[in-house]
Amino acid sequence: MQSELRKKLLEAFTNSEQEYVSGQYLADVMGCSRTAVWKHIEDLRKEGFELEAVRKKGYKILNLPKSISADRVQLGLKTEFIGKVIHYEETVDSTQKIAHLLSHEGAVEGTVVIAEEQTGGRGRMDRAWHSPKSTGIWMSLILRPKIPIQRAPQLTLLTAVAIVQAIEETTTLTPQIKWPNDILVEQQKVTGILTELQADADRIISVIIGMGLNINQTEDDFPPELRQIATSLRAKEGKELDRAEIIKVIFQKFETLYMLFLEKGFYPIKLLWESYAISVGKEITARTLNGSISGKALGITDEGVLKVEDALGEIHQIYSADIEL
Ligand code: BTN
Repeated sequence: MQSELRKKLLEAFTNSEQEYVSGQYLADVMGCSRTAVWKHIEDLRKEGFELEAVRKKGYKILNLPKSISADRVQLGLKTEFIGKVIHYEETVDSTQKIAHLLSHEGAVEGTVVIAEEQTGGRGRMDRAWHSPKSTGIWMSLILRPKIPIQRAPQLTLLTAVAIVQAIEETTTLTPQIKWPNDILVEQQKVTGILTELQADADRIISVIIGMGLNINQTEDDFPPELRQIATSLRAKEGKELDRAEIIKVIFQKFETLYMLFLEKGFYPIKLLWESYAISVGKEITARTLNGSISGKALGITDEGVLKVEDALGEIHQIYSADIEL
């Protein structure tokens, strides 16, 4: 994990309006010697940051690494608590598993686990989630909301809105949400969200939100069985994208929506969600553990539950299902 000094260094670069940030200024805000500043600058260089040092002027960042390390993501990140603590790993089994452990150990709200690669990435319904190295965003966010347990699924819908807004801001694409947690571009899946709970009988201990975004994969990076149904933002946008930039925008959008949710409830999120939803007003089939229901998707309730009207006019409330359009 990053040291406090490293965090202060990145914050100083983030908050500085100047092109060059002087060594003395950095030493002052970090509360350390200029030699210690220099050591941190060297560490950043080893990580792939290209930094220029000019006498009497200070340090300037010329180029950024392609990784999604904690340092890379936190440079320029303007959030209060989302992503302020990042556990970054090259290869993990699943970021969800690590987030669960960290949560048990008392990790603060907003802590994120990010990996370049997952060897045992998990999706909904215990499916595997393909997570090849340095192509996508594989991360898990720890939240500690003081809300009743039954409201936790609303956070999946909130996350989908945050990711859609982030994709809109960082690309020219028009992403859409398929209830409850798939984000599609031109009918192909680019993102999956997996929300898991740690709870007592009547209280949420933490909500772990796993996000998997296909960013820079080429078609060949997908296993043949996924090529029809899944794609990457790069494949649709026609150019490589900056993963760290996308993560930062997700964190910022998420924090804004989450504060709104805690203050005003789910209703404003529901309205946003519906504006991005692909299925509202369409004929769908919902495959649940208890069988299938076909009909017209009417939207979601104020609690975030999908409403489907069947051919007989009966309205079903669907809590968990796979949706076919
Ligand atoms: C889905 O089935 O659509 C949800 C996929 C969620 C994948 C993400 S990737 C980061 C986190 N770690 C995991 O093992 N799964 C989630």
